[in-house]
Amino acid sequence: MIDIDASTLEQLRAAKRIVFFSGAGISAESGVPTFRDDLTGLWAQYDPMELATLEAFNRQPDLVWGWYEWRRQRVRSAQPNDAHIALAQWQELLGPERLLCITQNVDDLHERAGCQQVLHLHGNLFASFCAQCHLPYAADDSHPDHSIEQIAEAGQLIMPPQCSSCQGLIRPGVVWFGESLDSQILQESFEHSADCDVFIAIGTSGVVQPAATLPNIAAESGAYVMQINPQETPIDMVAQCNIRASAAQALPILFEQLSGDAAYGL
Ligand code: OAD
Repeated sequence: MIDIDASTLEQLRAAKRIVFFSGAGISAESGVPTFRDDLTGLWAQYDPMELATLEAFNRQPDLVWGWYEWRRQRVRSAQPNDAHIALAQWQELLGPERLLCITQNVDDLHERAGCQQVLHLHGNLFASFCAQCHLPYAADDSHPDHSIEQIAEAGQLIMPPQCSSCQGLIRPGVVWFGESLDSQILQESFEHSADCDVFIAIGTSGVVQPAATLPNIAAESGAYVMQINPQETPIDMVAQCNIRASAAQALPILFEQLSGDAAYGL
């Protein structure tokens, strides 16, 4: 049984602005692997330096593209779970100006659950672009966005398509190690974190910079910081409330306790 203390509920009821900060753990119960969980995390099984850097892509584009095709396929066959759905319902109730979702995830499960406004700090698996001229990749029938091949394993080699404008290779629309985050999205994330009353980190290990500074910015600006994660993380240091449960268990209960009051959100 998940017990949420009265003072946390009071903070949430009184909050004019709430920021959710999600990581791979929110999609874990949809069957999308996290990065750093000991046995199942992607980085426990694959070397990020061989798959998630521009140098790796330049060296072996077919290996990198094949791996991202496999990840896209896993996300496409996954469904939003109860945590994504509760968050989307919460945003619908309060409106995106009062509840913002900032995510490190490159999947589209927040959007498919109905979330209307999501800041993707680390890009989007489905927004490929040209590695040479940076033109967004516009898929059409003759150039499908994604391979139609079924990818049974992660190691399959698939050459990326070519840009229709400059013939450069198309790369995944995610931020790789060594690359900068989109400065506007990062700036907006800083501003929203500094200007919220409650900040809720959910399913993130809180170790990848600069995203990992957001809970600290929120805490320093006076927000009530909460965390939903079965494991301890560095965010424990600033969180005033730690809910040690899975995202899909905890978030619907939290939302139900608030939305059960007909006056909530008015
Ligand atoms: P991590 O894999 O580092 O951390 C996942 C967190 O989710 C861990 O703290 C788990 O304890 C927690 N977790 C696992 N299952 C959960 C569940 N069912 N409910 C709630 N929490 C759960 O993932 P991120 O913090 O998102 O970057 O990783 C940050 C970035 O590192 C990613 O965006 C990615 C990666 O390298 C890029 O791709 C640029």
